[in-house]
Amino acid sequence: MEKSSNSRASFSGKLGYVLATAGSAVGLGNIWRFPYLAAKYGGGIFILVYIVLAATFGYTMMVSETALGRRSKRSPIGAFATFSKGHFSRFGGWINAVIPVIIVPYYSVIGGWVLRYLIEYLKGNAHTLANDEYFAGFITNAWQSELCFVIFALMTILVIVFGVKSGVERVSKIMMPSLAVLAVIIAVYSVTRPGAIEGVKFVFIPDFSKFSFMTVVAAMGQMFYSLSIAMGILYTYGSYMKKEVNIESATYQVAAVDSIIAIFAVLMIIPSVFAFSPDNATEHLQKAGPSLLFVALPKVFDSMGKSGAIFGTLFFVMVLFAALTSSISLLESSVSTLEDEFKLDRKKASAVMIFIMIALGTLSSLGFNKLDFVVFFKGISDMSILDFFDFLTNSIMMPISAFATVVLILRCTGINLVIEEVQSSSKFRAKGVYVITLKFLAPVLLLIILISSVLNAFGIVKI
Ligand code: PHE
Repeated sequence: MEKSSNSRASFSGKLGYVLATAGSAVGLGNIWRFPYLAAKYGGGIFILVYIVLAATFGYTMMVSETALGRRSKRSPIGAFATFSKGHFSRFGGWINAVIPVIIVPYYSVIGGWVLRYLIEYLKGNAHTLANDEYFAGFITNAWQSELCFVIFALMTILVIVFGVKSGVERVSKIMMPSLAVLAVIIAVYSVTRPGAIEGVKFVFIPDFSKFSFMTVVAAMGQMFYSLSIAMGILYTYGSYMKKEVNIESATYQVAAVDSIIAIFAVLMIIPSVFAFSPDNATEHLQKAGPSLLFVALPKVFDSMGKSGAIFGTLFFVMVLFAALTSSISLLESSVSTLEDEFKLDRKKASAVMIFIMIALGTLSSLGFNKLDFVVFFKGISDMSILDFFDFLTNSIMMPISAFATVVLILRCTGINLVIEEVQSSSKFRAKGVYVITLKFLAPVLLLIILISSVLNAFGIVKI
């Protein structure tokens, strides 16, 4: 009796952790970002590199952050302060904590796009959305895109300020599995369209001639983003994790759920481009960038005839929920950083974040127009402002922040502390992979990635 109640308790502890972490991990990163990066960086080869990285490096970082969080019982700033002394500790915690502050504004801009599509599907405009020009027309319409962004940002803020988070979490426990089921149905429909098989080959057969250094840089940035690594989230979630929960298998489960949903998103989107634009599919894929989800998927729904509007509505409701649960966790961690670091109360911290979100988000949202500041920015960089924030956080700040964690373990706590923490609840089965990745692979890879993405950004070398 005793034994069974014990094992139940630890199971539900683990389930709670896995659900919460997967709720934060599964979001626009899987459904919007992963497919367009896969399209841009050569399809199968990108996905292969991603999976190898997630299974080794991603897994190692997740275990590290969760274990350090559980051990210190603090969020990143506190965890760095606990384990190290001096400037490094401030820097390492700070960089981990500031990344969500920069991500949440542009995340909300994409959330606004999702909202807009949902509203159009509700109005029954499935056919209009399938028009190639619709998306470009929408994001270059300053008022429309700004309005949708502000509404999404307000939804996130309301949840944080009024504390209805637990309600949202309860609903998302139904929404997330439904999203997975719907993604499978849509993916099956997509890959069975005539001509789609070319797209399936593009996704599953790696073309090694398309491999470049930027494939690794992009796959690694995506891995951080999608698994919520290198931005303090897992320190905080780890600090809430019960001592008896098996860190290793909980981590595997989160990473697996996250990667499977990302792959189904790819299968929903990429083969459909081959089916609906057979003549210039690869060109479409290369050019689409962040618009891919919004341009490709409406064509799938449109081809379903009458039921298209229903599928479109259901799909975008669930994506909206997935996006909201992620943006809530990004904003929550931003607000608590301001509370801890600047000793603001919750209301003031939320007010500061509203200001930052509206300011930075507006830059991203209006960045597709021909306004003066956009033209000026275009003169310096060929990215859009939204892409710039995305690049800055994913390809520059996250490698630095992950590097800080690796240094924290190698120089300050020692690897044994992490191993001990994992072993305090279970056997550490992949200890060998963990140690090798952390000691050798991670520092070297992170440095190379960082240097190459900076050089690439400044156009010094084209990789
Ligand atoms: N992982 C989320 C996604 O894939 C983004 C996110 C990162 C959310 C960090 C919260 C914290 O969309």
